Amino acid sequence: MDTGNHDEITPEMTPEQFRRLGYQAVDLLADHLDRLQKRLEPARRAVPEGLRQQLLEQPLPQNGSEPEELLAYFAENILPYPLGHTNPRFFAWVNSPAAPISVIGELLAAGMNSSVAGGDQAGTYLEHAVLDWLKEIMGFPKESGALLVSGGSLATIVGLAVMRYAHAQSGDLRGRGLQGEDPPMVVYTSAEAHSCVDKAVELLGIGHDSLRKIPVDGDFRMDVGKLQQQIEIDRQSGLHPVCVVASAGTVNTGAVDPLEQIADVCVQEQLWFHVDGAYGGIAVLSEQAREWFRGIERADSLGIDPHKWMYIPIECGCVIVRNRQSMRDAFSAVPPYLRDDRQLPWFSEYGPQQTRGFRALKLWLAMKQVGVEGYRQLISRDIHLAERLREKIKARPDFELISAGPLSVTCFRYAPPGIPAPELDAFNRMLLDAVQKVGEVYLTSTILNGVFALRASIINFRTEEADLDFLLDAIEREARKK
Ligand SMILES: Cc1ncc(COP(=O)(O)O)c(C=O)c1O
Repeated sequence: MDTGNHDEITPEMTPEQFRRLGYQAVDLLADHLDRLQKRLEPARRAVPEGLRQQLLEQPLPQNGSEPEELLAYFAENILPYPLGHTNPRFFAWVNSPAAPISVIGELLAAGMNSSVAGGDQAGTYLEHAVLDWLKEIMGFPKESGALLVSGGSLATIVGLAVMRYAHAQSGDLRGRGLQGEDPPMVVYTSAEAHSCVDKAVELLGIGHDSLRKIPVDGDFRMDVGKLQQQIEIDRQSGLHPVCVVASAGTVNTGAVDPLEQIADVCVQEQLWFHVDGAYGGIAVLSEQAREWFRGIERADSLGIDPHKWMYIPIECGCVIVRNRQSMRDAFSAVPPYLRDDRQLPWFSEYGPQQTRGFRALKLWLAMKQVGVEGYRQLISRDIHLAERLREKIKARPDFELISAGPLSVTCFRYAPPGIPAPELDAFNRMLLDAVQKVGEVYLTSTILNGVFALRASIINFRTEEADLDFLLDAIEREARKK
């Protein structure tokens, strides 16, 4: 691929070259989309060993290459081996396909190469607009602070960083850090919370020894009585309870913590209320889910992930902080006497990033194309499909349902009468491995109450009811071979 042309090496293209290459790239993706929709692609295609080595061990390119050859290499060696979540038969983790219009949005945003730190540019205004829409959907006042970030993990870090600032007793968190805090802060979350909460408290210097994992009830929701007991124990030990992190959609089972009750505890105990709605928060739009989310609008800070259930290409997360000023105080590196609020304040004063990507464009495009009503229908449909999956599992005698959401995650196992109970974990592990290797469907696993469970999550506008039968048939087929 080395052109051998060492005289003039530049990334510049003529408009004609760019047009040709761009059309080729769009053709590749359009063909890929066609194959996905016609279910001609496996949910997962393992990277062949030789190719894996080739991809990993590439020599440092000393000289340039022809763009057309690079695109051809992409088509042959990269595009066929995605993680798989653009596929209608992909049920793993919490990953969704990308809305095609937002894929185009990524290209357009890169073409503008805006840095949305702030300033008088269209990107700034578009981000303010989509943030205001998200606040409205989630029941937050327009005056709240908000940012688009890389994802739910960063949303949690930003929310808890503002919390740490707001609850510091030293009054000088930014100067003295946590070295000035005595007694130590304590944060509460449930045993089912996402690991990003551990990462956030570790990174923010609170430390995971000061993160209490409150046990869950039979439906995998935080036990609020036990939360109150633990807060009392910590107060009596002279510690400083500061925050509860509730989950609006746990990754393991799709459970939603009792948000209203937790909000009440936070008010009584004067604790910061953070909600991790990375997976489920946006499901507040769906009619059947609305009741489960009561209280989410009372959070001091909230993370949601448009790159999950809003089908925005990765990366796109969002953090909302009720008190905009505390967000600015926690992050702004511009002294108050230099701040100029004649324009809208810069986003870079409200979070850790200075140079920031134009994430708003892909989100704006999808929200305009689909509309709130479209999202309501799509999310409701996914929850309905998860309910159908549970009914299908119950109707098949060799399957056992282990957990049932209520959002769109279902945990189950293959448990025919012939396999003794102590062997079921090992059998299902083997089974999952076999199903993943075949790759026509893809799902993952979890452990619930010590039991190994197959886990299927549906946040996919391409999945249809027939794909659920296909999933269960594929599992059954592999099981019968064992
Ligand atoms: C409940 C929950 N919280 C947080 C995260 C982390 O979000 P991200 O991967 O976007 O950083 C996830 C990711 O799956 C999640 O499901």
